[in-house]
Amino acid sequence: MTQDERKDAVAAAAIDEIEPWLERSTILGIGTGSTANRFIDRLARFRDDFKGAVASSEASAERLHGHGIEVFELNSVGTVPFYIDGADEVNAHLHLIKGGGAALTREKIVAACAERFICIADASKRVERLGRFPLPVEVIPMARSYVARELVKLGADPVYREGVITDNGNQILDCFDFMIDDPVAMETRINAIVGVVTNGLFAARGADVLLLGGESSVERRT
Ligand code: 5RP
Repeated sequence: MTQDERKDAVAAAAIDEIEPWLERSTILGIGTGSTANRFIDRLARFRDDFKGAVASSEASAERLHGHGIEVFELNSVGTVPFYIDGADEVNAHLHLIKGGGAALTREKIVAACAERFICIADASKRVERLGRFPLPVEVIPMARSYVARELVKLGADPVYREGVITDNGNQILDCFDFMIDDPVAMETRINAIVGVVTNGLFAARGADVLLLGGESSVERRT
């Protein structure tokens, strides 16, 4: 299978995973990115079987709307039974790096409100140790240089993602050359820097289910 076919396969597997649980009152949490987009496109067929969705980005909200799926504010919803989203890297503990699409903060918020986080990814995202993918950190714009200096002290090489403003009006620093031995501790450590909104480590709350698209099949891990 090509990478695109693997993304399609995991999107289909995620539909199989949630479809038996859909009720007319169900509101789903939906992520951001090319894999999540494939999931949204497949979900459209079931739009009369559930109530709607909470989106982790304006882009996903627009795509959901385009399919006639109602999008709700998270504050009016509370918890969601499932959050379905992609990842930039995933390790054996289902800890993730996310935020390649700059949607990490809203993704982390919706994931926090989910009873089950189903991560969908092609096998190229699977790593032994997180950090080959540059770790994104969302920062309040006036704090960017300060946060960058603090990240250097932690051993990272932060690079300003120029031209990118997040849906929250903030900026992104991508941490290069930053292999992570203890994702839970590093997630907490970076989030404690003043001016950081959040970082792209999803370890304190990782995925509950991983659907990983391999050469010829989808592997399910919990
Ligand atoms: C966006 C994300 C995405 O989930 C991540 O970048 C994976 O994207 P794709 O499915 O396009 O590979 O975290 O902020």
